[in-house]
Amino acid sequence: MAQHAHAKKPNYRNIVLAGVIIVLIIVMAVLLMSSCGKKKPEPVPAGSEASRVSDNGSVYGSEEESSSEQSSEESSSGSSESSESSSSSSSKSESSSSSSSSSSGDTPTGKYAAMPETPYSYDTTGKSVRNAFDANGEVDLLFPINSTYYITRNFKVAKLEKVDGDYKMDYRAAPHCKEMLAAMRTKLNSDIRAFSTYRSYEYQEGNFQRKVNKLINKGYSKTDAYNTAATIVAIPGTSEHQLGLAIDVYLDSLYNKYGELNEHFEETKEYKWLQEHAWEYGFILSYPKDKIKDTGIIYEPWHYRYVGVENAKAIRDSGMLLVQWLESQNIVYVYNGK
Ligand code: DAL
Ligand code: ZN
Repeated sequence: MAQHAHAKKPNYRNIVLAGVIIVLIIVMAVLLMSSCGKKKPEPVPAGSEASRVSDNGSVYGSEEESSSEQSSEESSSGSSESSESSSSSSSKSESSSSSSSSSSGDTPTGKYAAMPETPYSYDTTGKSVRNAFDANGEVDLLFPINSTYYITRNFKVAKLEKVDGDYKMDYRAAPHCKEMLAAMRTKLNSDIRAFSTYRSYEYQEGNFQRKVNKLINKGYSKTDAYNTAATIVAIPGTSEHQLGLAIDVYLDSLYNKYGELNEHFEETKEYKWLQEHAWEYGFILSYPKDKIKDTGIIYEPWHYRYVGVENAKAIRDSGMLLVQWLESQNIVYVYNGK
């Protein structure tokens, strides 16, 4: 009994200390959970101008955006359409196409800033004129999106359909894309998969800005950073991914090796097969090695654009880019959208 009477007084210092530790543990757990909820970054293409001047001096595999919060240029390691090609396939906001929204507050300069806010006008005299959009507002399958034929922020993509996991494309391209991927998997015993498909305007902006920021961090001037970024990530409004008609196909094994999309994809059996057969599914290679000067974009052996089977055959046989082939056919587009 006496023992009870003389029971030790509680040690308040220890109790307070324990309380502090518990609070700290809770705070850390909350922080950890919120960081786990963030999207995985998208892989980025390498072999670019940026990589040629990279810190480590290597030509391949020197560009990586894995530290970026969302995704990078091409596709994503995440399986979801969103993080991959454009996190939010449905997100479209209003406002002009000046693309001046910048996550870092940088002022666009160079080619990026030079993009007019209103759709181009073209001299249609003596030309075969086509509308960019049909009566339903769906973009023409041959609309050659680039710095001349760009889209505005108001562009609405046609119905999207899943092609691989959560990656989505325009419903007109999707079935052909699925068949193409299935054929490669069966015939080549390949693990090929989609790394990027449809991207919203905002997503493309994020990709572009991350690339710019990265180059600025490497010591580029703002103007050089914008101009160089534009050779790797299409300026917002000029990406075939934004039309829902392009796909980046790639292999996890290569991605794990280089940490990004890399020109070495051209050495794979998958690339060789695509060279022979992509057209049979209506796809063409948009950024060939021998056309860098014409496209203004790095060589991208992983990027394919859907144009329909007959068109794909004709364009492939011509050895031209889509835009060159249209020119050879005397075809121009008018932007009849918003
Ligand atoms: N990397 C290609 C050019 C795109 O961003 O669409
Ligand atoms: Zn691409």
